[in-house]
Amino acid sequence: MGLGGEARLRKLEHVDVVLRGRVEGPNTTWLEYVFLVHQASSEVHLSSVNLEVPFLGKTLKAPVMITGMTGGAPGTEEINGKLAEVAEKFGIALGVGSQRAAIEDPKLEQTFRVVREYARNVPVVGNIGGHEFVRYDLNQISRLVDMINADALAVHLNLTQEVAQPEGTPDFRGLIAKVKLVARELSTPIMIKEVGQGLSYEVVKELSEAGIKLFDVAGAGGTNWVLVEKHRAQRMSDRLKELIATNIAEWGIPTAASIIEARKAAPDSIIVGSGGIRSSFDAVKALRIGADLVGLATPVLRAYYGGYLEEFLQAFIHGIRALTALTGSRDLSELRRKPVIITSILREWLLSRGFSL
Ligand SMILES: Cc1cc2nc3c(=O)[nH]c(=O)nc-3n(C[C@H](O)[C@H](O)[C@H](O)COP(=O)(O)O)c2cc1C
Repeated sequence: MGLGGEARLRKLEHVDVVLRGRVEGPNTTWLEYVFLVHQASSEVHLSSVNLEVPFLGKTLKAPVMITGMTGGAPGTEEINGKLAEVAEKFGIALGVGSQRAAIEDPKLEQTFRVVREYARNVPVVGNIGGHEFVRYDLNQISRLVDMINADALAVHLNLTQEVAQPEGTPDFRGLIAKVKLVARELSTPIMIKEVGQGLSYEVVKELSEAGIKLFDVAGAGGTNWVLVEKHRAQRMSDRLKELIATNIAEWGIPTAASIIEARKAAPDSIIVGSGGIRSSFDAVKALRIGADLVGLATPVLRAYYGGYLEEFLQAFIHGIRALTALTGSRDLSELRRKPVIITSILREWLLSRGFSL
């Protein structure tokens, strides 16, 4: 994301920092304050659990999305190809990383196009940063969609990252007007996504009123782009940016709070619960408190580089199936009616925001 002149190198550097550095936290997702109740006598057999969920006019076999990460740099064609292959195999949704590099240099388009060679039937979501989205004309925005025959286009609101990034452009002036215009003119739906600081009730409300029906909360508690940029600033010996990042690293809405805020603001929208979803246990809780599906980024990247991507996804989806059965539910709509306990600081957050529990 936030690709500038040296776009390709930065994209690779991000992957490197995420794989080697400590870039998660310091917040947690607050999903640890959400509890579902184990039902020891559940007669729901795993094979009868239906995890299907409608998404972008298609049906996912499991409520999971690999959220946008990469493309636009050497080597990323291979990663995107593999991610697309597993998305198709498991019947889950796939996002690509920021396509800005390919708008600036069409030779890079293939690093994104490759996903459609494999992901032929599952939904694929394009991606662009808020800063570029405001500046691009409708023609350029349509190119993003056409490049990968996207089922939706994600606009990522990475303002906090832009603030912390040594060469960032924290300027979203004109965003809402542009969202309204594009939501009206483009036949492909726009998804609004964060990248790790979460979407608030106010933001989701305003954007739903602007015509948006798809949100990916990407809350705090998982990959933290302020910490990623802090690592980069350290590598560049940019002491000032390093200290700026240190000062704001705790900023953000923890994922559990963000999912609930988004759901309250847009009861009929599709909400992707993401940001620090690290286990099936996290996933079922996110699904219970308001997410239609869950999104994952860093764990997928780690599993890809570790050579265990398919096992990772198989275990993750199996775990969602198992825990759904252990609550006594046969599908996700039953899961959403099961008891949930919201405790501690998350409860206080919701009460002080005036939300009923
Ligand atoms: C290496 C890497 C690159 C990313 N690039 C993008 C991007 O280009 N566009 C975007 O919207 N989000 C991007 N993200 C953010 C993820 O889609 C996701 O919102 C965020 O990492 C939180 O999820 P996680 O905690 O599961 O990693 C990137 C994440 C990673 C790990």
